[in-house]
Amino acid sequence: TECIVNYDLKIFDDLDELSEFFSTELKKQVDSTDNKINLALSGGNTPKYIFKFLVEHFAKKISWDKINFFWGDERCVPPTDDDSNYKMAYENLLSKISVPGKNIFRIKGEEVPEGEAKRYSEVINKTLPQQNHLPVFDLIMLGIGEDGHTASIFPDQLHLLYESKICSVAVHPATTQKRITLTGKVINNARNIVFIVTGKNKSKIVDSILTYNIESKNYPATYIKPVAGNLIWLLDKEASSLLKGN
Ligand code: 6PG
Repeated sequence: TECIVNYDLKIFDDLDELSEFFSTELKKQVDSTDNKINLALSGGNTPKYIFKFLVEHFAKKISWDKINFFWGDERCVPPTDDDSNYKMAYENLLSKISVPGKNIFRIKGEEVPEGEAKRYSEVINKTLPQQNHLPVFDLIMLGIGEDGHTASIFPDQLHLLYESKICSVAVHPATTQKRITLTGKVINNARNIVFIVTGKNKSKIVDSILTYNIESKNYPATYIKPVAGNLIWLLDKEASSLLKGN
């Protein structure tokens, strides 16, 4: 029997509308509590537009000091490298808003990966509240790569979904670049998970995952099912173009 995942799907005409929605949701979450919220950013290119939008339209509207910034994954490179997810977020968002350095929890891509995965797991473990003996992120942003990876869980490393660790070391199958990634268990323990996928080149993968076709079993995103939280997919028209009814 198939386990049905409940999710919300929103399709936007353009990246401005998508970014506006995301920014408003983020603001609502921050405003809904007196506590800090724990947010895990995604890497790659897709969030760049949203980060810029946040700076342009929400820099003064969001209480940034109430957000702890984590990353769902990082490439094992120094923070000055163009491949660094931290660098992208720093340049496009963090350096342009008023957020104290103590709220920024970067993955140190320059360190020995195994040791850094362990250190980052410990940081997460002691900073976040726990449920089901696992840390609970308030919001995890996720993307999907053209090869179908999510966070840095690649289709040929689906075991990372089920590991009992909080963070693990992954290997990019094409480049062999090492990466550090949250594991599936921690992702699925989040209060809110948001997939953000844009562009025509992702439409086939999106269709496969959301229609559960035979190929979907290869994609880690298929196994992202929050145990108690909410799952939402934000797509632009291009990424949703193969879904029926669009
Ligand atoms: C990473 C990621 C990753 C990303 C996808 C999409 O560091 O690679 O966090 O999971 O979300 O690769 O990347 P693009 O937005 O660049 O297509």
